[in-house]
Amino acid sequence: MARQHALGFHSITDEVARELSVNGTVPDWLSGSLVRNGPGAFELGGRSVDHWFDGLAMLHRYTFDDGVTYRNRFLRTEAYAAARAGEFDGGFATGETTLRQRLKSFVLDDPYDNANVIAERVGERYLALTETPRWVAFDPETLETRGHVRYDGPEPSGRLACAHMNRDPATDQMVNFEVAFGPTSQYHVYAMSTPTERDHVGSVSVEEPAYMHSFALTPNYVVLTEFPFVVDPMAFLRPGKQGPFVDNFEWKPERGTRFLVLDRASGDLVAEPRTEPFFGFHHANAYEDGDELVLDLETVPDPSAIDSLYLDGLRSGDLDALGGRLERFRVDPASPAVDRTELYRGTALPTVSPARWCREHRYVYAQGTDLPVTEWPGSVVKIDAETGDTATFGDPDDHYSEPIFVPRPAGTREDDGVVLVVALDDAAERSDLLVLDGESLSELARARLPHAIPFDFHGRFFPELT
Ligand SMILES: [Fe+2]
Repeated sequence: MARQHALGFHSITDEVARELSVNGTVPDWLSGSLVRNGPGAFELGGRSVDHWFDGLAMLHRYTFDDGVTYRNRFLRTEAYAAARAGEFDGGFATGETTLRQRLKSFVLDDPYDNANVIAERVGERYLALTETPRWVAFDPETLETRGHVRYDGPEPSGRLACAHMNRDPATDQMVNFEVAFGPTSQYHVYAMSTPTERDHVGSVSVEEPAYMHSFALTPNYVVLTEFPFVVDPMAFLRPGKQGPFVDNFEWKPERGTRFLVLDRASGDLVAEPRTEPFFGFHHANAYEDGDELVLDLETVPDPSAIDSLYLDGLRSGDLDALGGRLERFRVDPASPAVDRTELYRGTALPTVSPARWCREHRYVYAQGTDLPVTEWPGSVVKIDAETGDTATFGDPDDHYSEPIFVPRPAGTREDDGVVLVVALDDAAERSDLLVLDGESLSELARARLPHAIPFDFHGRFFPELT
């Protein structure tokens, strides 16, 4: 029988700042902060959201600097204020309002600001992000909210923004895309040195825009993996239709999945090969191998995963949507063929060393799950894409967040560093921050956190935040 998973989808309301007690030894070289983002509360003001993706954004900062400190804070957004007043009903998949109200709250005048997906640095500013182009700035020291940031310049922009920007290590710019809706809709790709200045890279016109949660960046190309989960933009904008935002998207497997390959220098769409239909949320990394583009991507057969992430199901142990496959796609812009290889089965939230972004990587770190999933991810897995070898770490009582690899600054091997992961211990009703060895995944240190942290989404390690 599936285990109950109410813990992990619970709400916390306390905001703390404290030093943590540590068992084991944190490597001397480890300095900086992991900032994680995700839902901190699902109930507030007497109402509850329906979907995991709609929990109220909470930032958690884990700092390594002569000891380990922790602090957490809700983003003080309009969504947060509305929730406290008992009025929260906006979001990704929560709510019964009309589509016009939905669009108004999600993508139109003042887009939905519950930025609970990830935190990124863009230029000198730190932003919490969701899938609208209305970002929420925060103070990286105190985690206090510092208002909204929106691009308001002459370059093309859209109503939906990808939450998973890609940093170009060569320029430190953030590359991203937005979706503009209309009789002909467009994906606009751009690069930013600061949140309010952008260079237009290129645009692709489409009849029916797809839901794409992330994309791939290489030194010379942007690749939008366009799953056949699409919306009719005019129906989307028509008044009177009912339902949450995501319910307006439709699975059309006959379209297949299309890789839109944009040349970053010219902005031209240089290839658009199609392969069989599949769906996915996260690209782990991408790189160029000769004339080929290599994309490692977490896939699931179709977007029924989204339906399975409603809280009722998750809390009662219906977790099957959480497990996917790590697959490698090879796209040659000169060929219509797409090569597809499974690297690992039973995984979620794949990441690579930030030192390998846009470059060839060998190792992928991810949550490990059984398929079909009967438990929240119960392990951390390291996948060697070259040999197929794996290493795992896991305690049967614990459930793990997305793992974040931090390279040792003087290291030469790709896996010379540590993996930071938050473990939730069901039985003890407590979370720990774990420091694992990047090569073996053995435990180096464990810091006890003051509360059990609900399952969150994504983190970034910022070496400059000490
Ligand atoms: Fe994500």
